[in-house]
Amino acid sequence: MAPLVEKVALVTGASRGIGRAIALKLASNGASVVVNYAGNVDKAQEVVTEIEKLGVQAIALQGDVSKVADIQRLFQQTIERFGKVDILVNNAGVIFYKPITEVTEEDFDKIFAINVKGTYFACQQAAQHLADGGRIINFSSSTTAMILPTYSAYVATKGAVEQLTRVVAKELGGRNITVNVISPGPTDTELFRQGKTEEQINRLAGMAALGRLGQVQDIADVVAFLASDEARWITGQNIRVNGGTA
Ligand SMILES: NC(=O)c1ccc[n+]([C@@H]2O[C@H](COP(=O)([O-])OP(=O)(O)OC[C@H]3O[C@@H](n4cnc5c(N)ncnc54)[C@H](OP(=O)(O)O)[C@@H]3O)[C@@H](O)[C@H]2O)c1
Repeated sequence: MAPLVEKVALVTGASRGIGRAIALKLASNGASVVVNYAGNVDKAQEVVTEIEKLGVQAIALQGDVSKVADIQRLFQQTIERFGKVDILVNNAGVIFYKPITEVTEEDFDKIFAINVKGTYFACQQAAQHLADGGRIINFSSSTTAMILPTYSAYVATKGAVEQLTRVVAKELGGRNITVNVISPGPTDTELFRQGKTEEQINRLAGMAALGRLGQVQDIADVVAFLASDEARWITGQNIRVNGGTA
């Protein structure tokens, strides 16, 4: 039997990139999936259609994770539609590259609102609504270990996600809920390619021991493992999925 049959997963930022691959992988393992998106309704609907072709249920739900009311509504609508939530994947995230001297207050507030506030309040909703034995999988980045110029704000957000994950794991362990954070290395998505030259992309790919860019499937497979019963003894951990980059 598929390992996630009868489970319900909410994946933020699942219209594109890594989130899309996670939604498809969890569905192929049998989970019903909520495909959250911010603005790309067509892309989100395409993911739903792909999932339905697998004979699995899915819905697309708009919601800006930087708004607590939207996160609350996402949980309500998921429970109305599927009756529960077992797996929360806090994948939605944004990036920009600027030396610290050029970062504006607006830049800072926006990246913290999506990457940190979004993850934090989705964990709060999960703490209230996730089924016992559930799973929370947050998203950091291997850039917290690579230490690259122009990433200060992004790395600050991801460092916050790594730390809050450890505390929430302690708070929810009594209900057998595991809480982990995945830190991908350079992975071939729009977010990764945005603002980079081919030369920069090749240099980052070459930093991996395995000598290539990560593919979205490389990340989705590890999320599916953490979501499974086989990962029941892993909690409060930061898993760097990066082909040996850092
Ligand atoms: N790619 C990498 O190299 C890499 C490396 C390390 C970590 N990560 C992390 O992995 C995660 C996914 O990255 P990615 O490369 O797949 O990004 P991506 O291709 O840019 O996709 C971003 C996704 O997040 C959604 N999103 C953006 N802002 C949102 C908001 N305010 N509310 C809800 N959803 C929102 C987008 O929805 P719309 O389509 O509707 O805009 C889209 O589905 C991020 O947390 C990122 O920091 C990525």
